[in-house]
Parts: sequence; structure tokens; C-alpha cells
Amino acid sequence: MYSKAVKYKKKTKKRPQMVRELQAEYQVATLPMEENQLGPVINKIICGDSGELLRKLPSNFVHLIITSPPYFGCRSYGNETLGREESPLDYVNNLLRFTIELKRVLHKEGSFYLNIGDVYFGTKGFIRNKGRYARKTDIHYKEHKIIKPDGKYLQYKQLLMLPERVAMGMQEQGWVLRNKIIWEKPNPVPSYSPDRRYPVYEHIFHFVKSRRYYFDLEIAKKLNNHRDIYRNGIEPFKEHQASYPVSLIKPLILTTSKENDIVLDPFMGSGTTAVAAILNNRRFIGLEINQGFCKIAEERIKETQSLINNRLHLQDKQLNWSKSYDEKQIIF
Ligand SMILES: C[S@@+](CC[C@H](N)C(=O)[O-])C[C@H]1O[C@@H](n2cnc3c(N)ncnc32)[C@H](O)[C@@H]1O
Repeated sequence: MYSKAVKYKKKTKKRPQMVRELQAEYQVATLPMEENQLGPVINKIICGDSGELLRKLPSNFVHLIITSPPYFGCRSYGNETLGREESPLDYVNNLLRFTIELKRVLHKEGSFYLNIGDVYFGTKGFIRNKGRYARKTDIHYKEHKIIKPDGKYLQYKQLLMLPERVAMGMQEQGWVLRNKIIWEKPNPVPSYSPDRRYPVYEHIFHFVKSRRYYFDLEIAKKLNNHRDIYRNGIEPFKEHQASYPVSLIKPLILTTSKENDIVLDPFMGSGTTAVAAILNNRRFIGLEINQGFCKIAEERIKETQSLINNRLHLQDKQLNWSKSYDEKQIIF
């Protein structure tokens, strides 16, 4: 029974395809400073610290969460602190502060996909024997002050097992881990070392918060997405070098949410999750701390929306369907 699609209690009205697509209309918003006066947040990028913003969202209301947080000690995006801790264990604890809040906002039959990569202790990007950094972006690593090695867990060359540590912490929070998906990249960012194999994959953990949750195995099979290893190239988007591809998350959206459901990304970056949600008739909420990325995401979403609208316009001409829609945005 659990592997079949489990219906949410709330029924959604079936509407013609074109009208459903229009529901993903996009608006920009910034939150008022006062607690409990958020205004509408659906189909918006909200610029701010998701640690704070999540606390203002109601419980049990988003149907799906897909996200990729900053990785420990990797690139710095600007004003964030997550990932810039001195100790990898502080990073795990900080990330777990977000996941406990995400558990609260997630619908009880919803899912959470967490994409997270591992790192080696202390050496990222630095070519030791040449005393320089391998890539232009590696300058970010230079600025990251990292705790001194302790000869045990904290040793140079140590693969830190951060995805596993976060996942185990989440299990302690009561999350149920359903799949540990391996995302294999045919074109990974080069990470050469003469004394180990090339790292070519990242984790995508599929977590739920109860034993009954929405999952459509038949759609997963149709999309060839029913096994726990994916092979999908990376596609950096403009200035955001760490974006994941729409093609990677589209099947996650289609198998684990229904049309018109709300998809949340608390580390929205360039807006990939929102774009995938819009293209698949889902609503979205995007949280992002970096003003520059908020702008990139907003523009990208507008472009996606106008593509859809152009398509609708053409279809309208052919079919003479009404373009009106009755979407009510959630206000709380
Ligand atoms: C790995 S990137 C996400 C990329 C995204 N999946 C995409 O496809 O573009 C992580 C993002 O989290 C943002 N971030 C870091 N700390 C944050 C926080 N406390 N609140 C909101 N966003 C944060 C960073 O600015 C960065 O854009």
C-alpha cells in the first residue's frame, strides 16, 4: 500500500491543463519584519536567512521539499554562514537546525529530498606542492579558516562522511530515510588527486516524516526513475556555479507530489527548484539569503513563466479557452 500513490485527505479540483499552468504565476516579495504578518508567500522567492524565515512558516503545509544546502568548506556564495564553520561537526549541527524546522513545515504525507556532497578535510582546491589554488573560484576556500587536525577524525586527506553524518542526525530527529540515492555525474567538477579515485557522485537522501506518504511508483517506472542510482550531468546556471539541473529534480517532483502541491526550497540559489515546479504545475516557495541570487532566480522564473504564457497564448488561439484562473494565495 505504501509504495502505491497515497492520497492526501484534501481534494484538489481538477481543472483544464492550461488553467492549472497559469496558477504558477510569479510575484516577487519581501517579508514584513513583524512576526506573524508574512503576507502571501506562495510562488515567491523570499530573500533572507531561511533559518529565520522557516520559523515563521506554518506547520504541516508544504507537500515537498527539495534542496541542496551549501557544502562544508566549499565555495562561499557571499553572506551565508552555513558551510563556513571552522569544524565540520559544527556544520552538521548547524544544518540539523534547519532540518528540524523543515520537519515541522512539511505536510505529514510529504517528502524531503536533500542533495548534499562530501568533502575532504582541509585540502579542498589547494594544490599543496605547488602552493596555489587550482581554479579561480578556489579563492573561496582560502578564506575559510578550518579547525586544526586532531590526528583522528580531523586529518588531512580524510573524507569527512558529512552526508552520512547529517542523515544520521536527521534520523535522530525522527525523520525516516526511504532512499539514499546516488547522483552520478558524467561531467563532475574535476577533483584530481594522484593517490585516490575521482569522486563522481553526490547523495540525494529521500526522507519522510511518517509511514504513510505520497509516492507514485508507477510514474517513477515510466520515467525510468525507480532505481536508486541516477546518472545526470551538472549544469551550472549563469553566475551560480552550484546549481543542480532541472532534469535531476523533475522526476522527484512528479513521483512525490501532485499537481498544484507546494514545493519548498530553503536554499533556492538560482531558482532551479522553482523552475522545475512551475514547469510541472506545482506551486513553489523559495528562500535564499543572497540578494544577487534572489535576482537571478526571479529573472529565471519570470522567463519560465513567460515561456509558459506564450505557449498558453498559442493554445488559447487554437482552442479559445478562458485564461482566467481562481488561484487563492495562502495568506497567514
Ligand atoms: C548549493 S546552493 C543551491 C543551488 C540551487 N539548488 C540551484 O540549483 O541554483 C546553496 C544556496 O544556499 C544559499 N544559502 C546559504 N545559507 C543560506 C541561508 N541561511 N538561508 C537561505 N539561503 C542560504 C546560498 O546563497 C546558495 O545560493
